Amino acid sequence: MSKLAVYPGSFDPLTLGHLDIIERALDVVERLQVVVVHNPGKQPFFTLAERVQMVTDALIERGLMGRVTVDSLESGLLTSYASELGASVLIKGFRTGVDIEYELPMARVNRDLTGIETIFLPSDPANTHISSSLVKQVASLGGDITKYVPASVIRGFKAKA
Ligand code: PNS
Repeated sequence: MSKLAVYPGSFDPLTLGHLDIIERALDVVERLQVVVVHNPGKQPFFTLAERVQMVTDALIERGLMGRVTVDSLESGLLTSYASELGASVLIKGFRTGVDIEYELPMARVNRDLTGIETIFLPSDPANTHISSSLVKQVASLGGDITKYVPASVIRGFKAKA
C-alpha cells in the first residue's frame, strides 16, 4: 500500500463525487493530502481559502480528518509540491472518457517530470453526472444542490449570497 498520496483539484466547489473518491482512496493509500489548487485556466467562484475551508469542514463532518489532510497550492508545479511532501502517488477520479482525455496527458507529464504515478479511480455510477460547474450553474439559478454537495458547500453558497 502506498503511504501518502495527493488528491489535487480545483474543488470549486467540493462535490459528493469528490468525497466518494476521497473515502475510496483510503482503501488504497494510508494517508491522503487533498490539495486545493489554483488553476490559472479557470476563473473560480470561491476563493482558494473558501474552498479549503469547505473541504476541511466536510472532512471533519464525515469524520475523515486524520488520515486525510487539506492544503492549498497557489502556484508552482504539482509534481514539485508532491515530491517535497514525499507523496508517492497522485489520486484522480474520472467520470467518463471525457475526463480521461483531459487527465491522461497531465498524468503522463507529471510522470515525466518526477516519476510520480497517477492512480485513477472511476466515479461511482451514482455520481457520474455531478460536476462542480453544474453545481455552480444550478445554485446560481436558485436550484436545489443538496443532492450533489456536502453541507459545508451549501453554507459556502449561502455566505456568498
Ligand atoms: O479540478 P481541476 O481544475 O481539473 O484540476 C486540475 C489541476 C489543478 C489538478 C491541474 O491543473 C494541476 O495539476 N495544476 C497545478 C500546476 C501543474 O502542475 N500543472 C502541470 C500539470 S501536468
